[in-house]
Amino acid sequence: MAEQVVADLRDKCETPLPLLREVALAMAHEMGAGLQKEGGSRVKMLLSYVDKLPTGREEGLFYGLDLGGTNFRVLKVQLGGNQKHVVNCDSKEVSIPPQLMSGSSSELFGFIASELAKFVADEENCTNISNGKKRELGFTFSFPVKQRSVASGTLVKWTKAFSIDDAVGEDVVAKLQTAMEKQGLDMHIAALINDAVGTLAGARYYDKDVVAGIIFGTGTNAAYVEKANAIPKLEGELPRSGDMVINMEWGNFYSSHLPITEYDQELDNESLNPGEQIYEKLTSGMYLGEIVRRVLLKISLHSSIFGNMDHTKLQTHFLLRTPHISAMNHDKTPDLKIVAEKLEENLAITSTSLETRKLVVEICDIVARRAARLAAAGLAGILKKLGRDCNDQEQRSVIAIDGGLFEHYTKFREYLDITLAELLGEEASKSVAVKHADDGSGIGAALIAASQSQYCNAESD
Ligand code: GLC
Repeated sequence: MAEQVVADLRDKCETPLPLLREVALAMAHEMGAGLQKEGGSRVKMLLSYVDKLPTGREEGLFYGLDLGGTNFRVLKVQLGGNQKHVVNCDSKEVSIPPQLMSGSSSELFGFIASELAKFVADEENCTNISNGKKRELGFTFSFPVKQRSVASGTLVKWTKAFSIDDAVGEDVVAKLQTAMEKQGLDMHIAALINDAVGTLAGARYYDKDVVAGIIFGTGTNAAYVEKANAIPKLEGELPRSGDMVINMEWGNFYSSHLPITEYDQELDNESLNPGEQIYEKLTSGMYLGEIVRRVLLKISLHSSIFGNMDHTKLQTHFLLRTPHISAMNHDKTPDLKIVAEKLEENLAITSTSLETRKLVVEICDIVARRAARLAAAGLAGILKKLGRDCNDQEQRSVIAIDGGLFEHYTKFREYLDITLAELLGEEASKSVAVKHADDGSGIGAALIAASQSQYCNAESD
């Protein structure tokens, strides 16, 4: 019976190249539809109002605040100007108490502002850098936001594990500004950006061939530079640069070609946002462990391969996390000792044969491989939309990727690389590089704050 469950899973998670090509095509198509008009696609293609990316000439001291997963980070970045890049960067990571993810917005923003105030106070005590100028902050807020300018925007909806009703429809910059004022923090929020936009900015700062910034972390998303005159829904004056960075919010992508199993269906039904973020639920770190847990639960209910066990843990949603399945998937010990440990520690599955552990590894692999292959199809979709997916490309295209899933789940990354090469073909894949953008999103916010404030200064000179 257990083998049958795994065989079915393998079958339903199949992602042959023709299917992935359809997914890529659908992604490119949805991108066009989302740019056409508001609500034109589930892929929202949100305007970021970032119309130029950092060049390397930015100079001065800037702060960044990065909120979007289970942790948030505050950073202080000293930019050297003249291609000297980041000359100094200090940061602090704080985990968000889970109850704040579903409480009230004033509690969440109050907590963030108080941590930011502590960070600024500590930093200034040791560096004595306060120079009387108002401090400039870039705020990375990794949720769908409808922006009206580069430094303002209202929350469209929460995604991932957040659900704070009173913030939906509100301007998150105003919320943060109010919370900062309560802390007596004299800071100006110069930019509000998404983490995918930050990753794009952070990577472009070092490499001008970067065409897209992608996140595979708790959630997933993509940002790229679009020609302003190719965005029919853009109202008013076109940006001077002629470009606009688009926050795709591709986590909400859906296509009938996506291979969806009963486990995905149940996960979605029981999630905080049923029917939404379907691509994200198949490809991102918040969900992969949870899918595996659901498969293991089914096996435990229909077979006796886990022996006599207490099901309480195995029935607990999100108890098995993606780092656990990554550890099991990469277990190189001959008797799969790590698999045994993870099953015991996290799910109270105490006695397993080697055969059973092999089966568990296979489940992790099936789920991670499907995720990576669908992820590669998404990337191919963007390259297609940009006309950079064909054989005669002279131009180099770099895709910068950040996020814990990509960074730590080696097999995910390997499957993604292989699949993208398969999709593009030998010639085209020579001109495309996927690279890890380390901490793009935090630094990216500070960089965009810098380019914005220098832009404004230059304009008012
Ligand atoms: C979710 C959010 C999106 C974010 C992504 C990665 O999909 O909606 O804004 O970029 O997670 O953090």
